[in-house]
Amino acid sequence: MRIPQALADVWQHEPEWLTVLPRLAEECAQQWAIRLEQPVDTPYSLVVPAGDVVLKLHAPSDVEAHFEADALATWAGNGAARLIARDEARHALLLERCVPGTRLWDAEADEAPVVSELIPRLQLEVAGDHRFPLLATEAGRWDAELPKWYAAGGRPFEKRILEHALDVYRTIDRSASVLVNQDLHGANILAAEREAWLVIDPKPLVGERELEASGLLRNTHDVSRWLDVLVELGFDRERARGWGVAHNLAWAWDERRGWLEQHVEEVRRILNAR
Ligand SMILES: Nc1ncnc2c1ncn2[C@@H]1O[C@H](COP(=O)(O)OP(=O)(O)O)[C@@H](O)[C@H]1O
Ligand SMILES: [Mg+2]
Repeated sequence: MRIPQALADVWQHEPEWLTVLPRLAEECAQQWAIRLEQPVDTPYSLVVPAGDVVLKLHAPSDVEAHFEADALATWAGNGAARLIARDEARHALLLERCVPGTRLWDAEADEAPVVSELIPRLQLEVAGDHRFPLLATEAGRWDAELPKWYAAGGRPFEKRILEHALDVYRTIDRSASVLVNQDLHGANILAAEREAWLVIDPKPLVGERELEASGLLRNTHDVSRWLDVLVELGFDRERARGWGVAHNLAWAWDERRGWLEQHVEEVRRILNAR
């Protein structure tokens, strides 16, 4: 199997994984009795369609991806692609294939009604026993790390952006126990048959529902319109904006590359929108 160049570029610091990747995919194909097609040209994970299923392999160091299978299993196909099987040792998922699989971004459809129909079905209460990381734990870590990254970057943006984010982390509601997705947006919602639209690629946490705003606000030029849509769903407007700032600022720092200017610009846009 040919590994997509974009994937090889993103994971060049993990050559051991890239080397074994074709073999891992073959082993998965054998154990699940599927016939692999050509990989999708996507940079962050190896995605290989195979008939009516899709094989997805994550890099072992891709910690944000570790709980994707748990979220899909929890949803059990309700609003999201079904998890058919998983192989934790190989960081592999076998997924229901969305057909035609058009991304919501690339379709003619109006995004807001699609997202509004999905969010309430995906935001399950998961009080009690679960394996998901807590937003409160992540926020504690970001609260401790962000000032260090800020200093390391030589004060790379306005102090008020940092302060806004720190305030959100420090006012976290520890009692909130909603399953939320850090990466919901129109590139992770695909056209399907069983349901019109299915969510893929979740990066789940358990905590405040407003965290779900992060991916939507990061990927739009019309922040206030999305805030209006989320308020209709019962979100607190300023908390949704707050997580749009605080979560995306945490994701704007890359261990190897430092502050990613484009992501910081997205945060600035979210903070300044009406
Ligand atoms: N279940 C699926 N059905 C059909 N296509 C899929 C499925 N999962 C992923 N893909 C294809 O692979 C692309 C990248 O998948 P995604 O899970 O978003 O990976 P990444 O982690 O790289 O963003 C999608 O845009 C889509 O084209
Ligand atoms: Mg994706």
